[in-house]
Amino acid sequence: MNISKKVSVLASLLLGITGIISMNACRHGPYVLPVNLRVGDPNICFEHDILPIFQSNCAKSNCHDASSGASGYVLDNYADIVKKGIVPGNPAASKIWQSISMKIFNVSVMPRDAPLLSAKDLDLIRRWIATGAIDSGACSNITCDTTAFTYSGTIAPMMQTYCVGCHNSAAASGGSLNDYTSVMQAAVNGRMIGDISHSPGYNAMPLGGSMLEDCQITQIRKWVAAGAPNN
Ligand code: HEC
Repeated sequence: MNISKKVSVLASLLLGITGIISMNACRHGPYVLPVNLRVGDPNICFEHDILPIFQSNCAKSNCHDASSGASGYVLDNYADIVKKGIVPGNPAASKIWQSISMKIFNVSVMPRDAPLLSAKDLDLIRRWIATGAIDSGACSNITCDTTAFTYSGTIAPMMQTYCVGCHNSAAASGGSLNDYTSVMQAAVNGRMIGDISHSPGYNAMPLGGSMLEDCQITQIRKWVAAGAPNN
């Protein structure tokens, strides 16, 4: 067992014990936000901001995709994500939040054997749960501007949200998309454009997830057409 496996076994035990204690200590379950107060956060859209984090970091093969469903958690669609492990309005009582935010000896329990979620992604998930964990449908907060396509402002954050959960290092299947050189090579010399456009003969990316929006694909195409600069 490597250190992060040990840590996650220990953490599972702790979560189990705290669960039993809290069940005995309190006859009522944890606080759940009433349905009429689950209004969401106007700056968070489930499909656009939250689902890609789960698809990229959790719904991998042997982990939480539909065919693996490790520990009973399938984390590639709204219904299954909220079915187990999310208590609307109460991040602290949500098993999914506990596992991604709890660190033991500075190792997070989940994602196992993979980098921590970024502070930005953790904050989005916490706010999404706190405001009711709703599937907000059409995303009015999305501003995708096809005239904006710098590496640091647009391309790198997009890779972080949609791709780096799987493509976190050169050793990852399909290679790294976690630094400028790797992204540039995949985009300019590699198969990235065909993959994200779901072109015939390519591997549809993000693997198992929803296709990027047209506007996002346009931003990547324009960046490549501009010579894929490190700007
Ligand atoms: C859930 C995991 C996962 C996510 C998320 C993901 N990929 Fe992949 N990717 C893979 C795997 C696995 C491969 C290896 C080929 C295969 O098995 O399909 C791969 C291969 C690739 C390759 C190598 C060329 C090829 O076609 O094999 C590129 C380029 C790529 N992915 C781009 C992306 C981009 C861009 C994103 C984000 C928009 C992304 N991937 C998101 C798992 C993922």
